[in-house]
Amino acid sequence: MRILNFGSLNIDHVYRVKRIARPGETVDSESYQIFAGGKGANQTAALALAGAQVTHAGAVGPDGGWLIDKLAAFGADTSGIVISEHPTGHAVIQIDPGGENSILIHGGANREIPRAHMQDVLSRFNEGDILLLQNEINQIHYLISEAFLRRMKIYFNPAPFAPTVLDHPLHQLSGMILNETEAAGMVGTSDTRDLPAQVAENLHRAEVVLTMGARGCQYLHGEQRTSLPARETEIVDTTAAGDTFIGFFLAQRSRSLSVEDALLHATTAAGLCVSRSGAMDSIPTAAEVARAL
Ligand code: RIB
Repeated sequence: MRILNFGSLNIDHVYRVKRIARPGETVDSESYQIFAGGKGANQTAALALAGAQVTHAGAVGPDGGWLIDKLAAFGADTSGIVISEHPTGHAVIQIDPGGENSILIHGGANREIPRAHMQDVLSRFNEGDILLLQNEINQIHYLISEAFLRRMKIYFNPAPFAPTVLDHPLHQLSGMILNETEAAGMVGTSDTRDLPAQVAENLHRAEVVLTMGARGCQYLHGEQRTSLPARETEIVDTTAAGDTFIGFFLAQRSRSLSVEDALLHATTAAGLCVSRSGAMDSIPTAAEVARAL
C-alpha cells in the first residue's frame, strides 16, 4: 500500500526560553537553532523511518531545497514537491525548560500550491492507496474530495485546528488522528468526556486516534476501542511528537499490523522523539523503536 502525504515543509527557528512569552511581554532567549520541520514533512520523515513507502507532495520556496534533500535522505520519494516563487514556510518555536512549546507558523509556499499540481500528483495514485493530510497547506477540501473520487483512504490530522476544518467533507475520511486541543475544536464544547466518541459523531465510520501527551492515546473505530499509556521518559522537546506518532502509526497500519501493535510502535516512537531536540531530527529510526519496545 502506497502512502501520499500532501503536506507542509517548514524551516523551524527554535528558541530556548526560561518561560514562553505572554501577550505584551518580551523575553530573552538562551539559544537559537534552525531545524527542518513542518507537520507534513515531519510525518513523512516518520513514515519513511518506520519503513513505509511514502511520497511527499507540497511546495518550498527557492530557499527550501535543503528540506527536500533531507526528506530524500530519510528514504521518502520527494517527486511531489515543487519549487515555488513564494518563500518556504517557516515556524518560530519557543521551548521552555519543561520541553513544552509555543509555535507560530507562516505558511508561505505551503499555502500557494496550485490545484494543477495537486491533480498531477493525485493522478499517480490509485484505489486503496493512502492520502495523509494536515491543516498547514491550502486546498484541503479539494484534496479530500479528489482523493475520495479516486477511492483512496484519507487520513486527516486537523493540526493546527481552525474552524474551517469543520467545512471540509469529513464524512469522506477513513481516519482522523488528533490531539486534545484539536478534538476540543472539532466538538466545540468544554465537555471533554469521551472525546473520541464526540469526534466520531462528525465523521462517518472513520477511525479516530486521540493523542493525549503524557496520558497516552485512545483509539475508536465502531465498536472497537483501545487505549495505551504513554512511555515514561525525560522530556527535552515535545516538538514533532504528534507527527512521529502519526507516521509510525500509519506505517504499521499500512502493513496491516493490529491496532494495538501500531499504537505501541507509535507511542514508543513518540516517547523517543520527546527525549531529543528538534522536529524532523528528533524522530527515531525503526531499529531504535524496535529496541525500545
Ligand atoms: O508539529 C511540529 C511542527 O509544527 C513544527 O516542525 C513546525 O514547523 C510546525 O509546523
